[in-house]
Amino acid sequence: MSTLIVYSTKYGCAQKCAQMLSEKLNGKVDLCNLKTSKALDPAAYDKVVIGGSIYIGKVQKEVSRFCSDNRSILKDKTIGLFICGMFKDQAEKELKDSFPLEILNNAVAKEFLGGEFVFKKMNPVERLMVKRIAKVDKDLTDISEENINRIVQSMNNI
Ligand SMILES: Cc1cc2nc3c(=O)[nH]c(=O)nc-3n(C[C@H](O)[C@H](O)[C@H](O)COP(=O)(O)O)c2cc1C
Repeated sequence: MSTLIVYSTKYGCAQKCAQMLSEKLNGKVDLCNLKTSKALDPAAYDKVVIGGSIYIGKVQKEVSRFCSDNRSILKDKTIGLFICGMFKDQAEKELKDSFPLEILNNAVAKEFLGGEFVFKKMNPVERLMVKRIAKVDKDLTDISEENINRIVQSMNNI
């Protein structure tokens, strides 16, 4: 069994989650950062996990592009999906908005993994937005290992 994990990240949280997943999934696992490398071909794998982080309600365009470029291949794969974000109350909508319906319906796991605010990585506008909107003014990590394990369980059981 082989699994490809493709993800997009701005400040590294989705990468951290992808790495945690890769250490827990059975079989051979390859990781691919869609922002820094050419997407690996999902046709060569049995299972595919697709993940990204949310900024102002949207997932990165690299994730959307990977989904649309590989639509027909992904139909026949075991799919897991995740997003990183800090607004739990938006999780369901953000998951729905981040992936095409066909891929969402085919996925055996769809999880909101939480995220982190790291102020030194943000630009000044982002810092201000986080302070105003999230009412947070210091670093915060809220990654759900429980939700990561749920993806692992669903993917490993197939
Ligand atoms: C400017 C800004 C906007 C954000 N907008 C959202 C949002 O709309 N929904 C959400 O759930 N999280 C939002 N977040 C939280 C990020 O998704 C979170 O920091 C995540 O861990 C980033 O992951 P990354 O480091 O992989 O890019 C926002 C963060 C910043 C700095």
